[in-house]
Amino acid sequence: MEKCVLIVHGGAWAIPDNRIDGSLEGVEIAAREGWKQLMQGASAVTAVQTAVNSLEDNPVFDAGYGSVLTDSGEVEMDALIMDGKAMRSGAVGAVSCVKNPVDLARHVMENTDHTLLVGKGAERQAILAGLEIVEPESLVTPEGREEWETYKQYKSAVSSLFSGRDKEKAKEPEPGIGHDTVGCVALDAKGNIACATSTGGITGKMPGRVGDTPLVGAGGYADNQVGGVSTTGHGESITKACLAYTAVINMEQGMSPSDAGKKALEGMMSKVGGAGGLIIINKSGEWTAEFSTERMAWAAIKENTLYSGIHPGQIKENNL
Ligand code: GLY
Repeated sequence: MEKCVLIVHGGAWAIPDNRIDGSLEGVEIAAREGWKQLMQGASAVTAVQTAVNSLEDNPVFDAGYGSVLTDSGEVEMDALIMDGKAMRSGAVGAVSCVKNPVDLARHVMENTDHTLLVGKGAERQAILAGLEIVEPESLVTPEGREEWETYKQYKSAVSSLFSGRDKEKAKEPEPGIGHDTVGCVALDAKGNIACATSTGGITGKMPGRVGDTPLVGAGGYADNQVGGVSTTGHGESITKACLAYTAVINMEQGMSPSDAGKKALEGMMSKVGGAGGLIIINKSGEWTAEFSTERMAWAAIKENTLYSGIHPGQIKENNL
């Protein structure tokens, strides 16, 4: 068990002051729930699924209950899970009625010949698998509806929420509300690494828009030989930058998780102009949480210590 490490994020974006406490509390609870699985001998895949379920069920975060809305006011969620032991992956895109999209992603990984199912076909699989089906409206929070009223224009949501901290390269973010994506990476007692990422996307997106989250190499990546990554931020930028895979390649070339993550984010900003964040664990159990947005809530557990933060450079440390 001494090998085990787990880290979660609750999204990189311009998190407003009144959401700081709820975001930090939510990522710490999710990290503890995933960690409990690891301590009971569960696989990294089960641990990341458990932690992401906790974040999907928490209305503070943009995933599952709390998902943001498309420009026509509907919920469409994406999710990915990847098992670095066998390089297996499963993902879903644009699903509306599935309570926990990451559960459906795991079903796709374990029970189909495919890596990504979208829309009605994915929802049909959820029903056949006996997963919990809900009215899409039940996933919408008053804050999600308010955010939709503020940012019906996708472009204004992106420039307000994902312009990044580097004021030389980015516009000053407007104060506002918004969300982005949750994720988890874990290393289990057998040395296996898994990642999972889940999101409602970005407010004001077109119906049918699928972001980075369910794409292997963009929303996440896991390879026991190198490490695992889950990303968050502006999906179109993350997709073009292959953010998760770029961080893995950086580690393969000898960089620490911290240097690999920072370099991948800097490359994304300079090449495609987008901000975001990522969490990483390498095969030796070194971990990091990096972001180029104003804030990102994250929590990590290793050797009975809980680490967490939300501001750039902040690391709180507590015994479990
Ligand atoms: N990163 C989440 C999205 O853009 O959909």
